[in-house]
Amino acid sequence: MKIIIGSDHAGFDLKEDLKIFLTRELGHGVEDVGVYGRESADYPPVAHRVADEIGAQRYPFGILICGTGIGMSIVANRHKSVRAALCHNILTARLSRQHNNANILAMGGRIIGISLAQEMVREFLSTPFEGGRHERRIKQID
Ligand code: RB5
Repeated sequence: MKIIIGSDHAGFDLKEDLKIFLTRELGHGVEDVGVYGRESADYPPVAHRVADEIGAQRYPFGILICGTGIGMSIVANRHKSVRAALCHNILTARLSRQHNNANILAMGGRIIGISLAQEMVREFLSTPFEGGRHERRIKQID
């Protein structure tokens, strides 16, 4: 799969680490839409860019990282057909796929360590949507 990923300055280091993990460990392609350094940067333009691409179904999954993941998830969830899940552990990453069919994983670079983030990404990308009653609920979102 090709995964689209973006961050602000507060998520930059985790984004760089996850790019290596996604390509070398999981064998996925990565589209990095920035930011490309640690200089202070606003998170909304990056979140809009990733959410636009996910809403248009040009990528199967996106990853957004800011300091807490909160700003990124708020912005991304304004886009139709985007279900951005702010997750803090492996269970929420798994359930966001099983129950919510989340298509963007949002995380906090100042909250989550690299090892946990890697396992959350692994879980998120490998867990299928359960469908059934959850499908009905997702149809009620938009
Ligand atoms: C930046 O300081 C911080 O506010 C931002 O990364 C994010 O956490 C906002 O939700």
